[in-house]
Amino acid sequence: NWSMDDFIDLQIAKIRETVGDKKVLLGLSGGVDSSVVGVLLHKAIGDQLTSIFVDHGLLRKNEADQVMEMLGGKFGLNIIKVDAQERFLGKLEGISDPETKRKTIGNEFIRVFDDEATKLKGIDFLAQGTLYTDVIESGTETAQTIKSHHNVGGLPDDMQFSLIEPLRTLFKDEVRELGEKMGMSDELVWRQPFPGPGLGIRVLGEITEEKLTIVRDSDLILREEIKKAGLDREIWQYFTVLPGIKSVGVMGDGRTYDYTVGIRGVTSIDGMTADFARIPWDVLQNISVRIVNEVAHVNRIVYDITSKPPSTIEWE
Ligand code: XMP
Repeated sequence: NWSMDDFIDLQIAKIRETVGDKKVLLGLSGGVDSSVVGVLLHKAIGDQLTSIFVDHGLLRKNEADQVMEMLGGKFGLNIIKVDAQERFLGKLEGISDPETKRKTIGNEFIRVFDDEATKLKGIDFLAQGTLYTDVIESGTETAQTIKSHHNVGGLPDDMQFSLIEPLRTLFKDEVRELGEKMGMSDELVWRQPFPGPGLGIRVLGEITEEKLTIVRDSDLILREEIKKAGLDREIWQYFTVLPGIKSVGVMGDGRTYDYTVGIRGVTSIDGMTADFARIPWDVLQNISVRIVNEVAHVNRIVYDITSKPPSTIEWE
């Protein structure tokens, strides 16, 4: 009779046995998965865990501060924050192919870790928030790769870490249950999933500062309005994307030629399949008006009405 309490006890025992008196490094991404891994590991091995939070410049608005306050402050995790915005944006310059972008971000992420780990000395393990869904979709257990998820496998040969992936058998809803059981706040546990490559795969094609700002600012407005409408738990994941197309509009007396922002909202259990969310027209209208008024260089908003399959949740 499988229960979450058993799972926690079992994982804590397993982690302690595996780790012994050695040290573990964890990459906090700002998402639910790595946060839950962080709290679980902290429970199991306390200060033998050092977490690194990389600000790769592809995070949501205010995300870095929130992570530091909640996980560092409230839960007492030892977190090193790395400001690597320029490093990542430099690497991504000129790259527009989705898979190349993912791999570039993923590889750079691992490099940043390597640099930090070298500074820390004596780290033997690398913990990751890999879920069952990631395992399946990265082709580890099926022949076909749908998208390469950067948080699964693929560590370079010259890295000396062993992997710890305590969530590898869980689906997203189970990860949330686990977080709740460990006393994590609703705010942490009910964060919508956020991909490792972050806003980097929501700016379609080549990433620029201007495009990142549009996605980041429109995403904040979307989140505010969804919360205000009381839909933040109903809709599994919601975000904006920048397809990179410009179209003609009219504002005041003038013609505009500016960007289109896409809104994506889906209901799902585990992210493997998804249905587009039936967001009420009035809520969509508020979002649309606010984004066009408040975010520079946007003159059109579209809503994505495809489900998964045939689409994926993210646009890249
Ligand atoms: P897709 O777009 O494949 O997304 O339907 C399914 C779920 O996975 C998230 N996602 C990722 N998560 N690393 C992650 O940790 C990734 O590279 C990645 N790509 C997609 C996506 O946000 C959705 O929740």
